[in-house]
Amino acid sequence: MNKKVFVTRAIFQDAIDQLISAGVETKIWPDELPPTTLELINNAADCHGILSMITDHINKKVIDRCPNLEVISNMAVGVNNIDLKYAGFRGIKVGNTPDVLTQSTAELTIGLILMLCKNLYQQIDDTKHGKWATWHPIKNLGMELSGKTLGVFGMGRIGQKVASIASLAFGMKVIYHSRSNITAKQKIDANAVSFEKLLHLADIISIHCDLNEETFGLFSQEIFKQMKNNSMLINTSRGEIINQKDLETALSNGPLKSAAIDVTYPEPLPSNSKLFQLPNLIISPHIGSATLDARTKMANIAVKNILNAFNSENLVSLANNSYLQIT
Ligand code: GLV
Repeated sequence: MNKKVFVTRAIFQDAIDQLISAGVETKIWPDELPPTTLELINNAADCHGILSMITDHINKKVIDRCPNLEVISNMAVGVNNIDLKYAGFRGIKVGNTPDVLTQSTAELTIGLILMLCKNLYQQIDDTKHGKWATWHPIKNLGMELSGKTLGVFGMGRIGQKVASIASLAFGMKVIYHSRSNITAKQKIDANAVSFEKLLHLADIISIHCDLNEETFGLFSQEIFKQMKNNSMLINTSRGEIINQKDLETALSNGPLKSAAIDVTYPEPLPSNSKLFQLPNLIISPHIGSATLDARTKMANIAVKNILNAFNSENLVSLANNSYLQIT
């Protein structure tokens, strides 16, 4: 196969070997940090495919500098790092890796919910630093999940998985607000509500929507002030969905009791970010899909998407279907 691919980070050798054995010339970015836009362009300029990560901004400028490009295969479910519309206009297929990271991301979400409800991070840290004097009948108290209301914002695959674990494993009441209407959710014991009701009723809100023009900065002061007093917020989706300045205020002055975010804007946050000073905020390093199980499957699908595009076969998952006009 007379094709070249730029893989923007080191991924599992098994996945790379699949490209090599298909006869694809494969160039792998060797550094720990992602390539800059210029480095991306320099490496991908003569390539027919890019196997990209969420840390690569594949915009019009990058696409225009890669005249041979046939496929951009993102090793992620989210594709907000790629100009889907422009890629489609240029006849370039964009692949992503949905489904295989649903369980991992839902498990992380549940882990963060549990951490907040038991105030685990603080309690473990205090214990480690000698701040635990004795067992106490009315101190160190957390909250049980059973009977509490979880509000899921965005009921796609991950939202549905979180809803089903919360309801079946923990006996939570689940309400959700979503623009999608997916049949699988009929099997989940969850009620659709308006956004306002979700904000008013939920003890914990978990964000699982896409990042788009409508959701950029959506969780701002105006929204926080409609949330229940002492409620909690989880975000394992995209950092840009929350206005971080307003989150700081809502955590300092209420109504939020605590929050856990796996995603920030930018990533990572600068070391002097005020968010690091908040005792009631947990920040993890964008690890929703970071399990060996999920990442192995994601790498394999990302490779398959490249090979399928080169072989003029359907991609396992085509993310820019609605924009694609083969030129
Ligand atoms: C991770 O954030 C992904 O979109 O896969």
